[in-house]
Amino acid sequence: MNPFQYRNGILHLEEVSLESAAAEFGTPCYLYSKAALVSSFRSCTEAFSSRDHLVCYAVKANSNIAILNLFAKLGSGFDIVSLGELERVLKAGGDPSKIVFSGVGKREDEMIAALEAGILCFNIESESELERLEKVAGTMGKIAKISFRVNPDVDAKTHPYISTGLKENKFGIPYYDAMRLYTKASKMEHVSIAGIDCHIGSQLTEIPPFVEALEKILFLVDELAREGIPVSHIDVGGGLGIRYRDENPPEITDYAKALLEKLEGRPQKLLLEPGRFLVGNAGLLLTRIEYLKHGEQKNFAIVDCAMNDLMRPSLYDAYHEIATIREENGEPVVFEIVGPVCETGDFLGHERKLVAREGDLLAILSAGAYGMSMSSNYNSRPRAPEILVDGNKCHLVRERENLSQLMALEKIPGK
Ligand code: LLP
Repeated sequence: MNPFQYRNGILHLEEVSLESAAAEFGTPCYLYSKAALVSSFRSCTEAFSSRDHLVCYAVKANSNIAILNLFAKLGSGFDIVSLGELERVLKAGGDPSKIVFSGVGKREDEMIAALEAGILCFNIESESELERLEKVAGTMGKIAKISFRVNPDVDAKTHPYISTGLKENKFGIPYYDAMRLYTKASKMEHVSIAGIDCHIGSQLTEIPPFVEALEKILFLVDELAREGIPVSHIDVGGGLGIRYRDENPPEITDYAKALLEKLEGRPQKLLLEPGRFLVGNAGLLLTRIEYLKHGEQKNFAIVDCAMNDLMRPSLYDAYHEIATIREENGEPVVFEIVGPVCETGDFLGHERKLVAREGDLLAILSAGAYGMSMSSNYNSRPRAPEILVDGNKCHLVRERENLSQLMALEKIPGK
């Protein structure tokens, strides 16, 4: 579902004109379409409806509590990686018994909080973590449900920074060691084996790496069963890509079909951890052109958002479509779209052909995932507000930060 449309020459998100949104909330600001969020979530659960499954939304993609609340109401579970994400899910009304806890560096206090909340499963990523959890759960007189995140050594064919399933990556336990660790865990008193898990990377645009990883996981599932260690769920992680530009990511139905075929006849519950697929194309970052500057070699459109608001272009050289809010007839010019931050790496888009004037609004598209959640206060820039659009209504779901909040935790010694 594409929630963006030009109406009377002005770009709208659902029924909200982005011009009026900018007038009401200022720029830069993030806007998300509720209808698009609901539609992507439903398309995911429908694609897997033929078997028992649980979608555990990867909170890191966009952790605004209004979005978590929306998914919780749709029945979603959650994939968390920190105490902060746990607290957010609980505050948003998420069901703790549908939470899986991933990440290579879980602290003791994080384990305690998750055990107290009664989460579904810890996705264990190392032997030391297993031992720590056994101890922590023992002290609390609890039993921690676990799965091992197995590193299947599969090339996800994505950006190296977001590829996680190769043996040189820090994630998961080595494939060859999985049987030994499962056997060890099966003898522990305070952990109980629930499942098996893998996540090979993000923004995957092909199905075969997912299938290859699942085949390797299923091989282990069979071996575990032979050793008398059955697992009750199989977690295939997240990673399904979206279209930013001209990528051709698999349709969710084809992705589901490929996985479901491999799982046929198996009794385990299927867990999924999609992040980007659910939120990426539901959101945009609205920004205003402050200045046009005609350099010796390039034209620059200097906008009021920057790498601190949307880090993906600077960090991964990621492409985000940039659209003018008014449908224009004039002669387009090629611009570098850059922010005000003092770094050459502060760009939102290279070589974009636009009809642009100072004061015009631009929409940076596909910014719903890893946009706000990766933002920072670099250059002492307050974070942008977030707005959830529902039909013709705008809900301010995070206010714009102000400068006193930015300095509130700081102190001059002696004062
Ligand atoms: N499960 C685990 C264990 C993960 O580490 C991740 C993402 C996901 C699920 C969700 O993956 P997704 O469905 O969103 O691809 N900041 C990067 C992406 C980092 C992804 C990290 N892990 C970006 O902006 O592209």
